[in-house]
Amino acid sequence: MQGKSICVNLSRKDILHDVNFKAESGQVTAIIGPNGSGKSTLLKTLAGEIGTSGTVTLNGHDISALKPWQLAAMRGVLPQSTSVAFPFKVYEIVRLGLANGLAAIDDELTAKALAHVDLAGFEDRSYQTLSGGEQQRVQLARVLTQVWGTQHTDQPRWLLLDEPVASLDIAHQFAVLHIAGDFAAAGGGVVVVMHDLNLTALFADCVYVLSQGYVWGSGTPSEVLNIDLMQQVYGIDLPISKVPKSSIPFVLPQVMRKRLGA
Ligand SMILES: Nc1ncnc2c1ncn2[C@@H]1O[C@H](COP(=O)(O)OP(=O)(O)OP(=O)(O)O)[C@@H](O)[C@H]1O
Ligand SMILES: [Mg+2]
Repeated sequence: MQGKSICVNLSRKDILHDVNFKAESGQVTAIIGPNGSGKSTLLKTLAGEIGTSGTVTLNGHDISALKPWQLAAMRGVLPQSTSVAFPFKVYEIVRLGLANGLAAIDDELTAKALAHVDLAGFEDRSYQTLSGGEQQRVQLARVLTQVWGTQHTDQPRWLLLDEPVASLDIAHQFAVLHIAGDFAAAGGGVVVVMHDLNLTALFADCVYVLSQGYVWGSGTPSEVLNIDLMQQVYGIDLPISKVPKSSIPFVLPQVMRKRLGA
């Protein structure tokens, strides 16, 4: 997946400025950056939901030339937040991702997706009675049924996830990021918006750092998670070390708090 010279203007405001972005299939590519830096806007543009003066190509196709069903067959999108106004059952939400309409296949995929997000047996629960984290995992199950349920092609499918672990406990954060990692390991592509720098360091192969609608850096977690760049984009000093016997960076905010108070 590639975005070239992506400029986005919304409500007469420039949100993204000449962003160049590349994500490889087989990898997890993370987008990080402060609130309002343009991460969700970039993800929506890559998903084909927002128009741009630049170009976005998905599996070599210019997405502006693809029909909605062609796009839906290539990529699934988990938005940052989803409001459901009607009293849908969980299985009805998950099945929104499916185009099959064959009850047996749909039931099997729905159950598999719910089991993947640790919600086996939740099919008949009312979506609105679920906790925030459970709702987020149901939405991920919907996206999984979409990418699993599309006809097999030799082209990679893509998961575009906007803060998929934002309201999850630590065990489910790991579980969901493992789903993303396994999807990439099986040849798919994953683009994921993240705030947690440590989880980003653990799970991402490549990281884009956005600030004020510009890309301020990209590369491996070790390359971009450095004190200077983090200071530039977040405006705070973050002590960054390496996990022992590895090159994986980790950030210790509590050390920073002590320093501030010292
Ligand atoms: N439709 C719109 N009209 C005007 N401004 C918008 C619109 N959508 C987004 N913006 C602005 O564009 C900027 C980027 O928004 P975006 O949602 O991409 O940020 P983000 O990096 O995802 O932030 P967060 O971490 O809070 O989710 C923000 O300043 C936001 O207020
Ligand atoms: Mg966002």
